[in-house]
Amino acid sequence: MLDILYNRRSTRKFSDKKVDEEAIHQLLKAALLSPSSKNSQPWEFIVVDEPELLSQLSVSKPHGACLLKHAPLAIVVTGDKTKSDVWIEDCSIASIILQLAAEALGLGSCWVQIHRRYYNDDQTANEFISELLHIPDHLEVLSVVGVGYKAADRPALTDKEIDWQKVVRNCYDTANNEK
Ligand SMILES: Cc1cc2nc3c(=O)[nH]c(=O)nc-3n(C[C@H](O)[C@H](O)[C@H](O)COP(=O)(O)O)c2cc1C
Repeated sequence: MLDILYNRRSTRKFSDKKVDEEAIHQLLKAALLSPSSKNSQPWEFIVVDEPELLSQLSVSKPHGACLLKHAPLAIVVTGDKTKSDVWIEDCSIASIILQLAAEALGLGSCWVQIHRRYYNDDQTANEFISELLHIPDHLEVLSVVGVGYKAADRPALTDKEIDWQKVVRNCYDTANNEK
């Protein structure tokens, strides 16, 4: 696990190799076992592998979704607001679990943010995707996780790039924390 956490990078370029059904099953199993507040499990996942739908997902917002066009697989993470007041947290955890499970399976992935993003001036990215995939009204799209085999490995961040200033011991403004 630490190896995965220390080395994981977002993958935006994928090889042509398809993700097989067993790997998809393992990814979803991990996501469905994610922790959630009060165990409400407010998520539903949509597995998308049709090229035309992937192409449409890639234009769900003007920036940052284009990687989905050439991804072999996307998992749309949706949440049911009526099941949890913290569905965003729960679905975010499920999204990162999907990404970590993908790494464990030798796959790469990238989170595409949908919540609070816009397709255009008149339509949210959530509305656009909900229309495209006929998502029922009680669900809202939090993210789309693009998944596939990595076209190339990206280097892990180095120790020098880790910002330890973001860690405080006990209280702010104590002698312990003098930089
Ligand atoms: C909440 C969240 C939203 C993100 N949204 C996008 C996105 O819309 N498009 C994208 O290409 N990457 C997105 N990312 C990936 C980040 O850009 C990436 O994690 C960050 O730059 C650090 O790079 P790394 O994952 O390679 O360590 C998102 C990540 C998070 C956690």
